[in-house]
Amino acid sequence: MSKIATLEVNGQKHEFPILVGSENESAINIKTLRSVTGGVTTIDPGYKNTGSCESSITFLDGEKGILRYRGYSIEDLAEKADFLEVAYLLIFGELPTQEQLDKFHSDIREKSIVDDDVKKILDAFPKTAHPMGVLSSLTSALTAFNPSSVNVDSEEDMYNSVVKILGKFPVLVAWTMRKKHGLPLDYGDNSLGYVENVLKMMFKKPNEEYVQNQILVDALDKLLILHADHEQNCSTSTVRIVGSSHAGLFASLSAGISALWGPLHGGANQAVLEMLEAIKEDGGDTKKYMAKAKDKSDPFRLMGFGHRVYKNFDPRAKIIKKSADEVLGDLGIEDPILDIAKGLEKEALEDQYFVDRKLYPNVDFYSGIIYRAMGIPTDMFTVMFALGRLPGWIAQWREMRLRKEPIGRPRQLYIGETYRPFMTIKKR
Ligand code: SDX
Repeated sequence: MSKIATLEVNGQKHEFPILVGSENESAINIKTLRSVTGGVTTIDPGYKNTGSCESSITFLDGEKGILRYRGYSIEDLAEKADFLEVAYLLIFGELPTQEQLDKFHSDIREKSIVDDDVKKILDAFPKTAHPMGVLSSLTSALTAFNPSSVNVDSEEDMYNSVVKILGKFPVLVAWTMRKKHGLPLDYGDNSLGYVENVLKMMFKKPNEEYVQNQILVDALDKLLILHADHEQNCSTSTVRIVGSSHAGLFASLSAGISALWGPLHGGANQAVLEMLEAIKEDGGDTKKYMAKAKDKSDPFRLMGFGHRVYKNFDPRAKIIKKSADEVLGDLGIEDPILDIAKGLEKEALEDQYFVDRKLYPNVDFYSGIIYRAMGIPTDMFTVMFALGRLPGWIAQWREMRLRKEPIGRPRQLYIGETYRPFMTIKKR
C-alpha cells in the first residue's frame, strides 16, 4: 500500500502520510489538514472512520472476530489466566511473574479499605437509584478521600493509584448492591482471591457462614477477563478524553462508568435480560420482537446484537455462550431464558435483515444469563461490566497520559444562524 494519501481540495492537491500499525492496519495522518487547506476539517458522526489515538493495549479485527490484549488472544486468556493477571497485563504490558502477581495482589489488599464516610454518601441515595449512577458518584467521591492528581511520570505514584482503585472499587460495587437490598456494608476477607472476595463481599449474609462456590468464582473470573478491555469503545474514549484535560484518574473513571451505563453500550446486558423476559411473558414470541427490531418506525433494537467493530461473531459472545451452558448445567439450573436466547440468535442469524447488516450476538447477549444464574440482580449487570472493564480503562488512561496526548477537543461544522443584529425585546 502507498505510504501517501492525496486529497484534492479547491483544486489543490495535498499529501498526507499513511501510518501502518503492527497488525498492518492503515491510518491517514491528517494532523496538518486544517493548516494546509486553509481550515477544512472532516466530519465523522460517531467516529466510525476516525482513529483517536495510537495504542498498544488491545487489538480487534472486526471482520475476523479477533480480540487480543497486549498480543495474547482472548481465548487463551479466558482459558488460562485469571482476572488479576489480565489486569496486570493490560496496565503494565506484560503477564506478571508469580512474584509480581503476589505483590500486586498484596498491595491491592492493603489499599482495599474505603473511608467509612463514603457510607454517608451512600446513605443519601434512595433505594430506587440505579446502581450505575451510585457507583459513578462513589467513584468520583473517592477523589475527595484520596489525592485526585496522579503523577503519571512517577512509576510509584501511578502504581499506587492503580492498586488503590483496584482495591476499593470492588468494595464500592458490593456496598452499592447491598445498600439497595438493605444488607449491612462490610468487607470481605483479604485471605481470599480477588474474585472470591468480590463474591463474598456481594453475597455474604450477616447471619450465616459464607460458603464459596468455585463454579461461580470461575465463571465470574472469566466474565471479568472477557470485559477487561475493548480498545476505543464509547466508555474508554470517555475516560481518555476526560483524562486528557489532566483530570484525575478517579474522576475520569467516574465519567467512563456513566458512559458505559447507556443501553447502547454496557447497559445492553441489562436490556437483553429485560427483552428476553418480555419475550417469555409474550409466550416466547420471538417473531414479534424480530419484526420490531427491523421496523424503522419502531425505536426497539434487538439488544445484545450488532457491534460497531465486529461484523462477525464477537469472540467474547462465543465464549460466554459456551460458559452459560456449563454454568447453568453445573448449577443444575434450567433457565427458559437461555433457550429463548438461543432461539432468537438462530432466527436472527438466518434473517436477511441481520445478515445484510452483519449483526451478530455481542458480549452482552449471553452475559446476563450467567449473572442471573449467579444470583446477581439485573440492575447490577452493567456494574459487573464496569468491574471487568476497570483495568482496561486504567490502562488506556495511563497510556494516554504517558504518551502526553493533547487535550481532546474535536472541531465541528457550524450549520446555525449567520450573524444577525440584536433585537430588543420590544421589537421581537
Ligand atoms: C458494547 O464498542 C465496543 O467495543 C462496545 C463493547 C465493549 O466491549 O466496550 O463491545 C460493548 O457496547 C456492545 C454493544 C451493546 N449494545 C447493544 O447490544 C445494543 C443493540 N445494538 C445496537 O444499538 C448497535 O448495533 C450498536 C450500538 C452496538 C452499534 O451501532 P452502530 O455501529 O452505530 O450501527 P448502526 O446503528 O449504524 O446500525 C447499522 C444498521 C442500521 O440499520 P440501517 O440504517 O442500515 O437500515 O444496523 C441496524 C441499524 O438500524 N442495527 C440494528 C441493530 N444494530 C444495528 N437493528 C436492529 N437491532 C440491532 N441491535
